[in-house]
Amino acid sequence: MPHAPRTDWPQVVGELIQARQTILPRRLVAPGPDQEQFHAMLEAASAAPDHGQLLPWRFVLVPEAQRAALAEVFAQALTERDALATDEQREQAREKAFRAPRLLLLVVDAACGDSEVDLSERLLSAGAAVQNVMLVATALGFGSALTSGKALKSDTLRRALALREPEQAVCFLSIGTVASRQPVPPRPAVADYLSTWGSHP
Ligand SMILES: Cc1cc2nc3c(=O)[nH]c(=O)nc-3n(C[C@H](O)[C@H](O)[C@H](O)COP(=O)(O)O)c2cc1C
Repeated sequence: MPHAPRTDWPQVVGELIQARQTILPRRLVAPGPDQEQFHAMLEAASAAPDHGQLLPWRFVLVPEAQRAALAEVFAQALTERDALATDEQREQAREKAFRAPRLLLLVVDAACGDSEVDLSERLLSAGAAVQNVMLVATALGFGSALTSGKALKSDTLRRALALREPEQAVCFLSIGTVASRQPVPPRPAVADYLSTWGSHP
């Protein structure tokens, strides 16, 4: 629906965007968002740009009841890629599944719908969706983090989550109350990522 820009938006939105920072899962504690807050975060994902409305991404919630299963996936994925991994290393891998009150997996489908929309566009849409979720999480006072890791590409994880062949597990999104935060890393200046075609530095 068309709307006139609101005069308070530039400042409020700018502040919100700058306030978002990665809070790693080990620093995200209970309470997590309630159902209404969580729904508001997820609803924001639906406003992501999506070429052709393919909805090439989805989130898989990993509820408390499935954290132990995810822990075993992490441990098995470690064993698959490193036969010499120790029990201690497997335990460290398991432990990661229990962090953060809300844990989501972001999955992108490389092939659904129009084949003219390539993977880079699908990933871009997914990135916008996940950023929308994190911004609403920030607005509601919660911390969030994206994390990756080798387990995402493992057959064990793909099987456990029943990912279809053209789907990729891109990253985890953790959300919770901020127990402690690190300083925000220095952010690049506009000049670091903007050039003007036709002008030479
Ligand atoms: C797809 C993706 C995966 C990420 N995975 C990890 C990760 O596994 N571990 C980590 O410490 N940070 C991870 N990050 C977070 C970045 O390191 C972080 O965004 C960056 O340091 C900038 O910090 P900021 O988010 O506070 O601005 C990931 C970011 C993205 C976009």
